[in-house]
Amino acid sequence: MNLDTIPSSTVRNPAIHPALTDALRAAVAAKTAAAQDFLAGAAAEFGEALTFANSLGAEDVVLTDMLSSARLPVEIFLLDTGRLPAETYALLAELETRYHTRFKLLFPEAAAVEAYVRAHGINAFYESAALRRACCRVRKLEPLQRALAGKKAWITGLRAAQSPTRDGLAQRETDTAHGLVKLNPLADWSETEVWTYIRLHDVPCNALHERFYPSIGCAPCTRAISLGEDLRAGRWWWEAPESKECGLHDKNLRNKAVADDGSHET
Ligand code: ADX
Ligand code: SF4
Repeated sequence: MNLDTIPSSTVRNPAIHPALTDALRAAVAAKTAAAQDFLAGAAAEFGEALTFANSLGAEDVVLTDMLSSARLPVEIFLLDTGRLPAETYALLAELETRYHTRFKLLFPEAAAVEAYVRAHGINAFYESAALRRACCRVRKLEPLQRALAGKKAWITGLRAAQSPTRDGLAQRETDTAHGLVKLNPLADWSETEVWTYIRLHDVPCNALHERFYPSIGCAPCTRAISLGEDLRAGRWWWEAPESKECGLHDKNLRNKAVADDGSHET
């Protein structure tokens, strides 16, 4: 079934409309308080050397709302690959209005995109894993280097349950690839808890979620999933599950978790 062809008004995605039971509300309230503390501690520890990588995914809008409600002045950046879905740009504008803020957008180097497209074609990422990774390098990884330059720590919306490649994710890690501390405040949240927060706080979210896109990246590399499918099944769907990372969070680049006191776990 191609869910893209079904008008959104006729289908309600149950995954993003959890039954807001008392137990769920209480669990999310407790996790929210813990995440708020964690974010406040990070802002105090790193100050302007802290930045937040925000893809505008469900987890990222939760974190945006938490930072805003706690009035934590943390810089927020979006890697605008030039291939994001129209719905993501619409959400960006909505979030900027709602939170009275302006996201820092990083674009790929024009010359690098031109060279890639001239050599390989506009949609070459479908042709091989190597060409896909090369596109991600130009459109995401190089801009990420610029976003993180001069920073000491970055916040992400990663969750351990999102995929096998994210198993064992800690809230606080040493990111040796970038020489930074990496903070994942929602590491232990479930998808249901994320959506409970969004509903309880009426947080704006991407219209594609209602159309069965749980995980949203670039438009040509993201599609809807069927109920019961893996959350990231719609990302780079033509590739094997174990290779579905664009390099922003490559497990091989992930490192040992560090405890909150900074000591390394083994
Ligand atoms: S990806 O590596 O497969 O693209 P995913 O979409 O699951 O990552 O997002 C995980 C986290 O990576 C997000 O919560 C966000 O912190 C960061 N991230 C991913 N894409 C972007 C982007 N375009 N701009 C900024 N941060 C991003
Ligand atoms: Fe290119 Fe697709 Fe990677 Fe976006 S997700 S940078 S379009 S290969």
